[in-house]
Amino acid sequence: MCGVVGYVGTRNAVDTIISGLSKLEYRGYDSAGVAVPDNGDFLIVRAVGKLDNLRKALKDVKTTATAGIGHTRWATHGKPSETNAHPHKSTHIALVHNGIIENFSELKTELLGLGYKFSSDTDTEVLAHLTEEYYKTNSLLEAVRLTAARARGSYALTVMSAREPDKIVATRRDAPLLIGIGSGEYMAASDIPAALDITRDFIRLEENDLAELTRTGVKLVNKDGRDVHREPFHVDWEPEMAEKGGFDTFMLKEIYEQPRTIVDTMRGKIVPDEGKVFFGEFDGLVPSIDKLERIVLLGCGTSWHSSLLGKLFIEKYAHISVEVDTASEFSHRELPLNKNVLVIGVSQSGETADTRNALRLARARGAVIAAICNVVGSSISSEADYVIYTHAGPEISVASTKAFTSQALTLFLLALWLGEKREKVDSKTTSGLLLDLLRIPDKIKQLLDNKDEIKRIAEIYKDTKNFMYIGRNFTCPIALEGALKLKEISYIHAEAYPAGELKHGPIALLDDSFPVMIFAPDIKVQEKIFSNMQEVKARGAKVIGVFSERNRANFPACENQIFIPDCDKEEMTTFLTTIVAQLFAYYSAQALDKDVDKPRNLAKSVTVE
Ligand code: AGP
Repeated sequence: MCGVVGYVGTRNAVDTIISGLSKLEYRGYDSAGVAVPDNGDFLIVRAVGKLDNLRKALKDVKTTATAGIGHTRWATHGKPSETNAHPHKSTHIALVHNGIIENFSELKTELLGLGYKFSSDTDTEVLAHLTEEYYKTNSLLEAVRLTAARARGSYALTVMSAREPDKIVATRRDAPLLIGIGSGEYMAASDIPAALDITRDFIRLEENDLAELTRTGVKLVNKDGRDVHREPFHVDWEPEMAEKGGFDTFMLKEIYEQPRTIVDTMRGKIVPDEGKVFFGEFDGLVPSIDKLERIVLLGCGTSWHSSLLGKLFIEKYAHISVEVDTASEFSHRELPLNKNVLVIGVSQSGETADTRNALRLARARGAVIAAICNVVGSSISSEADYVIYTHAGPEISVASTKAFTSQALTLFLLALWLGEKREKVDSKTTSGLLLDLLRIPDKIKQLLDNKDEIKRIAEIYKDTKNFMYIGRNFTCPIALEGALKLKEISYIHAEAYPAGELKHGPIALLDDSFPVMIFAPDIKVQEKIFSNMQEVKARGAKVIGVFSERNRANFPACENQIFIPDCDKEEMTTFLTTIVAQLFAYYSAQALDKDVDKPRNLAKSVTVE
């Protein structure tokens, strides 16, 4: 996610802004920039890569400005480059933005018709020119308010005019923005850490609020331009704590981000009432969809697990056969491919060498290559013919959490999109499923609110040496993902199997020292998985059962049970059982005092084979 800063006060603006941006680096970015008023215009300096590159570019810049705006960019539209870096400028207006403007194309067409010239590939630039247009006949605050009213999508903005060098206007929708309240100095910022140098008192802007910052104070209005009051609050976090949003670890922060990242992943892709899914990025595939023989999904680790879920979704709704392979094994196969086979690489980082090399091999054998990635401009996304971005924001913790649910969701939406193009699923069915999806964020929040029960159970088993995870159908990949999470952060050995496989060998492992986590929320397979539960209990193994709320009145006796909110469709339970698996692994590792964010032997992105 991008980092936004706007400062007005008495300190050197460039130094203060760069320091603020440095506290937002944890959000991940690929370019940065700063703008300060300069003799009736702006001095704007931008640089690709890390903040040090911006510092180098500023080395010989002399400015005494005590107001300005700054930005660290996480590319969503347009690759990382100096021209795409923020701030973006119009005649008198300079602006930085975090978020995604869904209707930027139509706004750009309108502005081009008004004679505005564009210099970047970003969605953000339309906001600078539109504000400029409204600024011709309105105050800066009003011009930003009118611009925000026209924009669809998410934004956190700080805006300046060269004509009013002592004023910053800030506004937000679906992206965080706070106002740091200093003494004669104020900072609008994406997150608390950026402003801790100047204050520990903040105002959190509410949706569509606008703020006008000058040295004399902060004026707040709502989307209708009416004055509003927002209660200031005080934080006593140390900066490092603040980067984690008050959470102990990035992993827990990222687990808790999932209600929002689920929404961000869907943003701009669905119209639930009409049962529509849009993947403009894949439109080039439409003419050849009827000739599509099969799809191959490739990934590693967690991305392999989400691919296994994607297979089940796509086969169910698009009625096309899907093959899944670990990218490393795919490379050894003599698999016949051709232009009627779509090979999709799934990767959070977009830099995993196994996945990148497997895709290159698939292309060499004639397949069409696509990618589902979280990082814009990454190697895998740059080399693919078609790319869908998951927009989960940077994932800092080595153990992947929010990327998994965003990948699974993207693959679910792809299944519906393919199903519609192949006339295998009607809009009424799609509409019902999309409306179910919209309920998932609240169901995840319910689960997160009940985390203490999962924590309590994890602490009971923290000294266990071995764990078995089992599931059936949609929860089989969840068993694999849950076992991986436990292994990689608590170092407890964990096996995962399809529940039906146990009797074919693995059940020999079980006794009272080998507990079993059983994912059993799905009605369709409940009878079979309940009998699997009896099988493992008969061997003396302790069972942690994961059930749907509807089972609270009647579920097979087991040592411990965790309940997830009911879902009408079994595929929806995957987003909830994932949260259980993530939290169970997290609290197991915490109970063992492990370094959750940086587990031994692991790297966040495995860029070597
Ligand atoms: C998951 O928790 C691990 N960190 C690891 O398995 C990861 O999913 C795998 O290395 C693939 O990474 P990618 O999604 O960035 O390609």
